[in-house]
Amino acid sequence: MTKFTGYRCSLCGAEYAPGEITYTCPKDGGNLDVVLDYDSIKSKYKPEDILSRSDPSLWRFLPLLPVQEPPGDATPLHVAGGTPVYRLARLAEKLGLQSLWLKDESRNPTASFKDRASAIVVARAQEIKAEIIVTASTGNAGAALAGMSAAVGQKAIIFAPKSAPQAKVAQLLVFGAKVILVDGSYDDAFDLTVRAANEFGWYCRNTGYNPFTAEGKKTAALEIWEWWEGAHQKWHKAAGADVDHAPLTVFVSVGDGNIISGIHKGFKDLYQLGWLPRIPRIIGVQAEGSAAISNAFHGNTETITPVSAKTIADSISVDLPRDGVRAVRATKETGGTYVNVSDEEILNAIAELGRVGVFAEPAGATAYAGLVKAARSGEVGSEDPILVLNTGSGLKDVRAAMQAVASAPIIEPTLEAVKQLL
Ligand SMILES: Cc1ncc(COP(=O)(O)O)c(C=O)c1O
Ligand SMILES: [Zn+2]
Repeated sequence: MTKFTGYRCSLCGAEYAPGEITYTCPKDGGNLDVVLDYDSIKSKYKPEDILSRSDPSLWRFLPLLPVQEPPGDATPLHVAGGTPVYRLARLAEKLGLQSLWLKDESRNPTASFKDRASAIVVARAQEIKAEIIVTASTGNAGAALAGMSAAVGQKAIIFAPKSAPQAKVAQLLVFGAKVILVDGSYDDAFDLTVRAANEFGWYCRNTGYNPFTAEGKKTAALEIWEWWEGAHQKWHKAAGADVDHAPLTVFVSVGDGNIISGIHKGFKDLYQLGWLPRIPRIIGVQAEGSAAISNAFHGNTETITPVSAKTIADSISVDLPRDGVRAVRATKETGGTYVNVSDEEILNAIAELGRVGVFAEPAGATAYAGLVKAARSGEVGSEDPILVLNTGSGLKDVRAAMQAVASAPIIEPTLEAVKQLL
């Protein structure tokens, strides 16, 4: 099928055929948007054809993806996507909101949003018969690539900063990837990976460099659409509420800016197909100490000036975001904005989410921290329906989790000691 017709540069608009180019625009280094043949997709499918599929994973959306089939034979890690949406009634009340939901991406196979990207990149790698896939990662993208590669018998090499949380490094090693820890930042690992891939002929999955990562990430938007138009509307009707309410606002944490760009792309694809009447408002949340994209947005420019990143949220600690321009547009074109949060606000968000049963890593809780701030400042109103993404599991970074809570007391093993404590 010819649904994937090529790439378009997000900066200069130059178009390229699928086999002509692999990563970014040779003219200006711009991120490439994958171009799909919407007419061909529309002529073959209606939304019901996709939404009636029994496969709950992201592969239910294969007709909208630029690959022919899932990678390898059927394996457990094919179940990326299909993550649950929880209603957070108690937190909504606390924030003065009428409706608040959280889509829990920590429920992906390797416990982060990044499984979506790796699924599609590994499928692409197999189509172009790449022998080795390499990626730079703060940990999650690497774990996702290593896990999917292990499942389908693909060789993977991961470059991560040596400061990556232990649990993430453990995942990389257990999945049997070749793991190289770089004595430097994520940005150093990123640049080294690109150079090594060119030198050794490896296929590079780097976030915001390989155009297929955003295509994987867009599947979250496709699921949000399915939920918002389907189950959620039914819930609203049953509650006796008007279904034609304010548009959805989606909160996303942002590092390189590829998740937010991918989600925007997913909504744009649906809009182009005529399957989504109104694109949700997207709000990006960055850590104060790693806010290059937010700075550009608020400075009303698409020029991304690097920062010297420092935040407890290691997954979004990025000096020079690699998908910054599209990330600025994701909020600008949807009536959204960027919110910055401090490490303290991120730790508070971990604790708040924990108390309603959601265990998020710092970058995962960042989106909720942004909502808290936006609700207080009036950036979102009480009637705005809100969906927050938790992009990664708290088990990924237990050290940070322990900073979010008071430590447990240690007592003698006697009833007396328990009484004293109580
Ligand atoms: C848990 C988590 N949240 C958010 C992000 C941010 O995604 P992006 O770098 O595409 O903006 C990442 C990226 O590594 C992540 O692992
Ligand atoms: Zn270009």
